[in-house]
Amino acid sequence: MIPFIDLAAQQARIRDKIEAGFGTVLDHGAYIMGPEVGAIEARLAEAAGTKHCISCSSGTDALILALLAKGLRPGQGVIVPSFTFAASAEVMPVLGAIPVFAEVDPITFNLDPAGLPAAMTAAKDAGIQVVGIIGVGLFGQPADYPAISSFAESEGLWVMDDAAQSFGASHSGIPVGQLAEITCTSFFPAKPLGCYGDGGAVFTDDDGQAEIMRSCRIHGMGRTRYENIRIGMTARLDTMQAAVLDAKMDIFDDELVQRQQVADLYATLLDGIVETPRLGAGATSSWAQYTVKLPAGTDRDAVMAMLRDKGVPSAIYYPVPMHRQPPYRAFPASGCGLEVTRDLCERVLALPMHPYLVPAQQQQIAEAMQAAL
Ligand SMILES: Cc1ncc(COP(=O)(O)O)c(C=O)c1O
Repeated sequence: MIPFIDLAAQQARIRDKIEAGFGTVLDHGAYIMGPEVGAIEARLAEAAGTKHCISCSSGTDALILALLAKGLRPGQGVIVPSFTFAASAEVMPVLGAIPVFAEVDPITFNLDPAGLPAAMTAAKDAGIQVVGIIGVGLFGQPADYPAISSFAESEGLWVMDDAAQSFGASHSGIPVGQLAEITCTSFFPAKPLGCYGDGGAVFTDDDGQAEIMRSCRIHGMGRTRYENIRIGMTARLDTMQAAVLDAKMDIFDDELVQRQQVADLYATLLDGIVETPRLGAGATSSWAQYTVKLPAGTDRDAVMAMLRDKGVPSAIYYPVPMHRQPPYRAFPASGCGLEVTRDLCERVLALPMHPYLVPAQQQQIAEAMQAAL
């Protein structure tokens, strides 16, 4: 079976540095908030071009910390796409707030700026005050933040980038990290920049918000550990994971180039067989996933089974829109019925994507797809 994501090939490139990093941590023993944590935050902030990087325990906790920094209160609404991973929407109800589901663009799969007014209307009709927008860089491509931000500005809303999948990409020449007031990412192992456990980070230029998040990730601590000046949580990145990320950062830029080459070859090989992913104007992608659209009416389960028989794994991200998941059905959704979202959930299929795919494997995948269809 072709690996869907090949972490072993990646590890072979950097294993010596990872082992040396683990050795250093074992020697100094500072497993929590050791020196590697501050060092990787500085390295990540430099890569993203932001003043602050606040590392934390997961992409989900990154979103919660960012919402705490924004002062989100119970009952307030936040617009979010329905075609996303659960965490993007889940963090609002965790804080007693309300996700307001908006439509996505059929080409980029990301929040459609033209659909934002309908989401505002749906919230207003439900008596909910919207305070912000969370865009998601789905499958590696950032949302159209220039357009989203101009709508947000006209409505007095803040904008947050859920870049769990899109760290390393850019829009209009601006890197992820600087596209919104506050950006969250995940270091889940399968992400373009992943560690060997759970991890995440928040990026911002705002000193005050950075201070709140640094405090909230350690139980709302003040200047000293047992001075608790706000309600917080345990949400630190552990030192071992910081050591893994330091090794992975050495090859991250190179891997982004390799991912783009894999995407380019897929686009050629799959041309005329399935609808291949396209980038919106001005966007680059970190290609967290390579998600194609099958022709309408295709028996997707049968295609997946035929691919599997030919040694090709595939996955569906995401089969059910968030606004149709049982715990989320009562939250407001745009009046348009989210038809694009529904169509994507029925037709998308993700193919193997990682920097170490070789052309012969991609050829095998394309032939299997052609035969299946
Ligand atoms: C779009 C999106 N947001 C948030 C998350 C949450 O990240 P984590 O799994 O690190 O909590 C993920 C992870 O899969 C994601 O894909």
